[in-house]
Amino acid sequence: MIVCVIVIACGLTGATWYYATPKYTKVGYQPIQPVPFPHDIHVTQLGMDCRYCHSFVDVAAQSNIPNTATCMNCHSQVAKDNPKLQPVPHSMAWCLDCHRHPENYLRPEDQVFNLDWKPDDVKPEEFVAEYGQPSDAHEDFSKKKQLTQSEIGQTLKERWKITPPTNCQGCHR
Ligand code: HEC
Ligand code: HEC
Ligand code: HEC
Ligand code: HEC
Repeated sequence: MIVCVIVIACGLTGATWYYATPKYTKVGYQPIQPVPFPHDIHVTQLGMDCRYCHSFVDVAAQSNIPNTATCMNCHSQVAKDNPKLQPVPHSMAWCLDCHRHPENYLRPEDQVFNLDWKPDDVKPEEFVAEYGQPSDAHEDFSKKKQLTQSEIGQTLKERWKITPPTNCQGCHR
């Protein structure tokens, strides 16, 4: 009995020591944000109302983080070359444009780092020999003079089985 009591007491002490600490429960946890947003510039110096950005704070149970369009009302003009703001031009439409039609952006793998690449650079015969062509294509791509971006993209999309998420949970997890 005495041994058991000692073992249990030690176990409880150890567990409390480890788990009931601010470090384990992440008190004061601050994730590193992609944009180091300064409240002092916007609120203290510019005198902005909190509700300009946190627009639902007085009507909803939880406050909201502003969308990028709110920032761009000013930052399409102000400090637009500031590198800290680079992630903010990204809008959801930009992501979805590509996710819905990745074929408009795909290119052969060895051309990924070639900024001057154009669909016209592709030689149809070589391309088809390496990547094939979409199963529902009506004509023989290798006999064509040139391939369009969409033909190249469709081929690669099928070949590499590319299916970017377009459902909401795909990005909003
Ligand atoms: C120009 C837009 C803007 C204005 C104005 C603004 N905020 Fe924010 N706020 C943000 C953004 C963006 C975040 C998320 C980024 C972050 O946490 O650093 C945020 C996060 C927060 C957070 C949670 C994160 C944290 O740091 O604890 C609180 C609380 C907050 N704001 C309160 C306020 C209050 C109070 C005011 C008015 C005095 C205000 N904000 C004005 C944009 C704004
Ligand atoms: C009402 C106009 C306005 C809005 C809206 C606004 N800003 Fe700003 N922001 C400014 C001004 C003015 C400055 C100061 C520019 C300067 O110092 O050159 C600034 C500066 C910044 C800086 C640079 C800080 C530095 O240390 O260099 C960042 C980052 C920034 N804003 C992020 C945001 C984000 C993120 C949002 C949206 C949540 C936002 N801003 C919304 C006006 C605005
Ligand atoms: C130029 C095209 C393009 C743009 C722009 C783009 N994506 Fe994607 N994304 C893709 C492709 C292609 C895939 C799928 C890759 C695959 O199937 O292997 C993908 C996959 C993803 C995935 C799933 C990754 C996984 O592991 O399941 C997420 C999440 C995602 N993208 C988020 C975003 C967000 C958020 C943005 C905008 C900020 C964005 N994407 C912009 C092309 C793009
Ligand atoms: C490919 C990734 C991706 C998918 C899929 C996606 N979103 Fe988004 N969404 C984003 C990103 C990135 C933002 C932040 C952009 C911004 O703040 O402007 C965003 C922002 C939002 C916002 C806040 C913007 C605002 O104007 O307040 C809402 C609401 C939203 N998404 C709803 C949806 C719904 C509903 C779906 C499904 C039909 C969806 N999203 C699918 C990437 C995605």
